[in-house]
Amino acid sequence: MKIDYFKQKFPHKYKQLLVKFVIVIFFFGVAFRFLFFHSEEISPVLESPLPEKTEASVSVPETPVSTEVVENADQVSRTEKCDIFSGDWIPNPSGPAYTNESCNLIESHQNCMTNGRPDKGYLYWRWSPRDCELPQFDPARFLNIMRNKTWALIGDSIQRNHVQSLLCMLSTVEQAVMVYHDEEYKSRTWHFPTHNLTIAVIWTPFLVEAVIFEDQNGVSSSEVELYLDKLNNKWTDEYQNIDYMIISTGKWFLKSAIYHENDTVLGCHYCPKRNLTELGFNFAYRKALRFVMDYIASSDHKGVIFFRTSTPDHFENGEWFSGGTCDRKAPVKEGEMEMKDLNKILRDIELEEFAKAAEKASRNGVNLKLLDVAPLSLLRPDGHPGPYREFQPFAHDQNAKVQNDCLHWCLPGPIDSWNDIIMEMVLNG
Ligand SMILES: *[C@@H]1O[C@H](CO)[C@@H](O)[C@H](O)[C@H]1NC(C)=O
Ligand SMILES: *[C@@H]1O[C@H](CO)[C@@H](O)[C@H](O)[C@H]1NC(C)=O
Ligand SMILES: *[C@@H]1O[C@H](CO)[C@@H](O)[C@H](O)[C@H]1NC(C)=O
Ligand SMILES: *[C@@H]1O[C@H](CO)[C@@H](O)[C@H](O)[C@H]1NC(C)=O
Ligand SMILES: *[C@@H]1O[C@H](CO)[C@@H](O)[C@H](O)[C@H]1NC(C)=O
Repeated sequence: MKIDYFKQKFPHKYKQLLVKFVIVIFFFGVAFRFLFFHSEEISPVLESPLPEKTEASVSVPETPVSTEVVENADQVSRTEKCDIFSGDWIPNPSGPAYTNESCNLIESHQNCMTNGRPDKGYLYWRWSPRDCELPQFDPARFLNIMRNKTWALIGDSIQRNHVQSLLCMLSTVEQAVMVYHDEEYKSRTWHFPTHNLTIAVIWTPFLVEAVIFEDQNGVSSSEVELYLDKLNNKWTDEYQNIDYMIISTGKWFLKSAIYHENDTVLGCHYCPKRNLTELGFNFAYRKALRFVMDYIASSDHKGVIFFRTSTPDHFENGEWFSGGTCDRKAPVKEGEMEMKDLNKILRDIELEEFAKAAEKASRNGVNLKLLDVAPLSLLRPDGHPGPYREFQPFAHDQNAKVQNDCLHWCLPGPIDSWNDIIMEMVLNG
């Protein structure tokens, strides 16, 4: 079943990868939960006053931004527009806008500085599009423009990773006050009182309805029950109240799951104990994304909706469950690193479904934009916590065996540049 399905769905591109692919999927299906779920742990962070710091860099953006879907080089049409997502990481001697000392909103698993990551080079880079100038994020200006507005970052733990970066940057001007959190601190809302700006992170890792059976340590007792024709109301209930949103999902679809539609079980992804048809995670990912995008494209939303592509991991010499690491110290250049098959499959589905939805959205007057951070993130194998997801992992034993995180990002770190891009797209999109 699985083989036939893939052949039919991936006629030329993936056939040769099939064996490798199925094996990888098997492992991901069985065991992906550990890193991703453990990374979902969060301890309640108390908000306390931050040192004041003012950013003085006010630069004038020069070139409008293209949000075209560019799948491969031969499809690139050279227009007068600048592709903000095509470029290089360039040295940034001034370093990050915040540190572990100035921002107390960084969750411990991503706080590489505090956790004792010894090399500092990864902090001194910024994203630079090839054909235009990308001004650095200006927190004071952002706060001013966003008076009375509501932002929401919707999706999985990478969204939470991102919201912390955004909050840390803005908090150099005005301190964020947490005004809401759910029981597990996975969804949270902050308010900037002086600017009346609200920023929320909404935890809904599948975007569609899901029943997840797992304890606090991420040990799951059963497959995820995934309802591919029901959107999760955690975000849809808020949808019309949000002025700017960033939506993303991805890696959670690799997990073992039972797929439901129209109150019927369609099949599953990796459920050997059940007598069900293996449909592959790509089946569910495409269906769920199409449903999400269609909801957005056919809505009458008046704000701005960014669909962010999922970000690649950088486990090398193994996967996360087999001793993979990410101990590089500097970015790579475009073309130096291949995106892994799984990431590529997710990405291709994202780009295809976005392209379809974008047409419909523009006919409908919905402002749907692609935030394609995957390629620029691929160039930052140096930006992950690695072993420094834990505090001082080698304090007692130089050779300690520790779980590496090559999926989330150090803060400060590469994600900070996403804010440069978002600001540019908001101002000149
Ligand atoms: C910040 O990180 C440095 C090491 O880079 C460390 O010495 C310092 O204690 C950390 N500060 C906090 C508040 O964690
Ligand atoms: C923000 O809302 C307040 C109260 O409704 C209003 O007085 C003010 O003009 C608004 N500011 C902006 C920039 O929209
Ligand atoms: C804050 O913004 C909201 C809209 O998001 C508006 O309804 C409210 O009146 C504003 N409050 C103040 C004090 O400006
Ligand atoms: C959903 O199921 C009902 C019966 O349970 C059926 O009548 C209907 O056609 C189904 N709809 C779709 C879209 O499959
Ligand atoms: C599995 O399902 C198929 C078709 O639905 C059925 O023919 C078969 O008997 C089932 N096997 C078991 C072990 O339940």
